[in-house]
Amino acid sequence: MKISVVGTGYVGLVTGACFADAGHDVLCIDNDPKKIKMLHNGFMPIYEPGLDAIVERNVKLGRLKFSTCIKEGTEFAPVIFIAVGTPPGVGGEANMTYVEQVGRQVAENMTEYRLLVEKSTVPAQTSEYLKRTVLKYLRADTDFDVASNPEFLREGTAIEDATHPDRIVVGVDSDRAADLLEEIYRPILEKGGGAFLRMSVTSAELAKHASNSFLAMKISYINAVARICELAGADVEQVAKGMGLDPRIGPRFLNAGVGYGGSCFPKDVDAFVRLADALGCEFTLLKEVQNINKSQREYVMKKIKQELWVVQDKKVAIFGLAFKPETDDVREAPSLYFVPKLQEMKAKLTAWDPVAESKFKEIHPDLDCVQDLYECAKDADLLLILTEWSEVKNMDLQKLKNVMASPVIVDGRNIFHPEEIRSLGFTYHSVGRN
Ligand SMILES: NC(=O)c1ccc[n+]([C@@H]2O[C@H](COP(=O)([O-])OP(=O)(O)OC[C@H]3O[C@@H](n4cnc5c(N)ncnc54)[C@H](O)[C@@H]3O)[C@@H](O)[C@H]2O)c1
Repeated sequence: MKISVVGTGYVGLVTGACFADAGHDVLCIDNDPKKIKMLHNGFMPIYEPGLDAIVERNVKLGRLKFSTCIKEGTEFAPVIFIAVGTPPGVGGEANMTYVEQVGRQVAENMTEYRLLVEKSTVPAQTSEYLKRTVLKYLRADTDFDVASNPEFLREGTAIEDATHPDRIVVGVDSDRAADLLEEIYRPILEKGGGAFLRMSVTSAELAKHASNSFLAMKISYINAVARICELAGADVEQVAKGMGLDPRIGPRFLNAGVGYGGSCFPKDVDAFVRLADALGCEFTLLKEVQNINKSQREYVMKKIKQELWVVQDKKVAIFGLAFKPETDDVREAPSLYFVPKLQEMKAKLTAWDPVAESKFKEIHPDLDCVQDLYECAKDADLLLILTEWSEVKNMDLQKLKNVMASPVIVDGRNIFHPEEIRSLGFTYHSVGRN
């Protein structure tokens, strides 16, 4: 099938590349000419393991093309996926400017039936606004549908998630739209992709916000438990294990730490809270999830301050700038809280991240970064761990101790065993395990 994908970011590029790899003819569109130029020249605008090989293969096969022209995208395919950003607006609600723009531009260029698919994470009832927009700007006398197909991929494992999804949620209000989407996903379903769930458009939109908010809630829950563990003298890892083997709870997303970040959870929880408010139903549970997440960073910062006493002129090494390993995405990463806070207190900072340095420097060009863990930790008075990259987990701890001015670790990801690392002579603070 022919497919257009508008928005060639983390979701759009992965989606487009994986659809092409499944045998479809895909045109990826982005209004950022720099991004499209990079792709035309064979460079990836983002870091995502395995993506470059899939893009290269499908470009060579002629199944994956790139363009900045939405008119071309509208003419190219009967199905147009919208994968543009939905960042937080002024009040925290999802900013729908880019989605609206695409709806308008597609409508203006549409001369025959088109199916517009919301791949971006959007608030419930967006499809109604999108339909109104298309009707307003439509020039030709033609039919169209709007569907919702929320994306559940995770950065870092996006290719596996897109090619072997546990569920494909499809919100449609016509059989024609359902058939088109089923045809697109057929190769993925045939290779063992999970359930194909057909539902109403509003339910599909809501399923995405409800899923992300639930996962964020799990993280805030275990972080709240972690604080109680510290006060009660329990170990949150053991508590989480005791909880997680219950299949009703499950072990994942029960890792205590600095709280959730990234381009999705913070903004999606916020948007869901705002949507509930707008519908006249205050979602107090989610507001508390947000409060816990915000205070969790402050909680870890308190550990740093207590340890250093005077922060000014102390050298602090930071491992991890992206919001998680295997991605260069720094949106809402914990580092964006710790770096400016520590700079305000006049600490001397050096950071390490194998792939996110340049994206982080677009925001904080003044941060000193090095590409070697031990060089980064050299002469440090404290090491702050904000990542689970395997390089950090597998560090030579004796070598680390030897290069640091003072062997102190504040571990915001709980990656080391407290007793083991203390037996090596480190002062070690983690979350919920003291
Ligand atoms: N990143 C994730 O892990 C993830 C996972 C699931 C869902 N989502 C959702 O998917 C959506 C996209 O997220 P992302 O991380 O890929 O964002 P992104 O910022 O990486 O990519 C969005 C792209 O859209 C382009 N764009 C904006 N307006 C455009 C327009 N009018 N025409 C053409 N291109 C336009 C931008 O230039 C950018 O390249 C968001 O709604 C997000 O919440 C993201």
